[in-house]
Amino acid sequence: MTYYLGIDIGTSGTKSLLIDAAGNPIAEATATYPLATPKPLWTEQNPDDWWNATKSTVIAVIKKAKVKSHEVRAIGLSGQMHGSVFLNARGKVIRPALLWNDQRTSAECDEITQRAGGREALIRMVANPALTGFTAPKLLWLRNHEPKNYDSLKYLLLPKDEIRRRLTGELATDASDASGMLLLDVRKRNWSTELLSKLDIDPAILARVYESEEVTGTLRSDVAAELGLSTDCKVVAGAGDCAAGAVGNGIVRQGILTASLGTSGVVFCHSDTPQYDAAGRLHTFCHAVHGKWHMMGVTLSAAGSLQWFASQLCSELMKKKGIDPYEVLNQEADHVAPGSEGLFFLPYLAGERTPHADANARGCFIGLTNKHGRGHLARSVMEGVGYSLRESLEIIQTLGVPVKEIRLSGGGAKSALWKQILADSFGQKVCTINAEQGPAFGVALLAAVGNGEFKNIEEACKATISVVEKVAPRKPAQKKYDAGFPVYQRLYQSLKDRFVDISRL
Ligand code: XUL
Repeated sequence: MTYYLGIDIGTSGTKSLLIDAAGNPIAEATATYPLATPKPLWTEQNPDDWWNATKSTVIAVIKKAKVKSHEVRAIGLSGQMHGSVFLNARGKVIRPALLWNDQRTSAECDEITQRAGGREALIRMVANPALTGFTAPKLLWLRNHEPKNYDSLKYLLLPKDEIRRRLTGELATDASDASGMLLLDVRKRNWSTELLSKLDIDPAILARVYESEEVTGTLRSDVAAELGLSTDCKVVAGAGDCAAGAVGNGIVRQGILTASLGTSGVVFCHSDTPQYDAAGRLHTFCHAVHGKWHMMGVTLSAAGSLQWFASQLCSELMKKKGIDPYEVLNQEADHVAPGSEGLFFLPYLAGERTPHADANARGCFIGLTNKHGRGHLARSVMEGVGYSLRESLEIIQTLGVPVKEIRLSGGGAKSALWKQILADSFGQKVCTINAEQGPAFGVALLAAVGNGEFKNIEEACKATISVVEKVAPRKPAQKKYDAGFPVYQRLYQSLKDRFVDISRL
């Protein structure tokens, strides 16, 4: 038998998934780890936690599936994008990694824009404006704030690529994940020597860029022995979790979009050519489909907002044994009418990317009255995230991208209520597919392609992915959200200067 492994280094945990040669999921395991917030809006993680979670989940999956070591032919890696793993010349991690939702780098974004010769020049070089979450600003932050650490820096890797280095000893990345570093010439799918020179960054600190299905190496012998795998097992380049999740949802041609409800929320579309939103609200990155691109809008706190609500404001529910706190919140929210009786939630708990690119934005409940209870709050969180994803969807549509089908994915999409809210808010049918494992499934398929199991990723998706459920919008709720959406949009406009005041306090 032949098997493939997909490993996704997420923000809340790492998931390993084993599939067979036909793409059927055989076994999966997840291990979680903490997220450090040393200051408000700062987020960090320890790469050793990712590595331990990778090893324990791979070992668990191999054990569960009872496969023989040589039967796992290839591994695909996916991971949270943009994180900065700083390594010294001995290959040791210098300090905890700064993550995609860390907002400490506003000054460095200004520095990059200015060194590049302005926003337009920057977009010409790397297809995107400087955003706090991206990797290049993190590197400049290290140079500006921790010069001793910067002096010992030899390599800068993304989260999944640090796991690749530990698995294979190779320094490699893929074009989709590399796009989020703000150092890649997205059109040419290789590093922008022009921007690197303007920022005075040595290109030698960066990994070699591959297409997602290309083989970057094989397992080191000590690692293979520890994991119960063979040294012939290939590791393909893989993809950033957004592109990997899109592949896992079959978004490998124009017309089908995904909206995902993970910690972050992403509206993602495939593009045969690199297209840009002139206002820079969407990201234009390389896709995990060979030689193709994608555009996406990112809501920084999507299912992460509900997770925050449950863990910080419903602690008694979280502690109760024998109940699923999210189930309870869903039931309570389902008893509230669409629109949450005038209550709005702005999901800016970690600042916001699309459409505002505003590190100062803050989360808000607006419109509270003494009638509102926990169900209203929970529902308004789901609706606020729905409005935020709708903003990305509308920008994508204004670029002329056809939207024939929207597929939902991510943990939040397990909620029937949240699915309905998204259908009502988008005013379009939303679908779910047979494969629920998102990024881990996407990179397991890429591993299969890299091993020659399928001709290309399009064929792999065609053979393995199908729609299983469609949820249609309900007219009265859709009307309610059509009326609420412009109000939601104006709330940010009214508050954005106050967010600046708050950030200065
Ligand atoms: C994408 C982004 C997030 C992370 C989450 O640009 O920052 O979706 O990749 O894992």
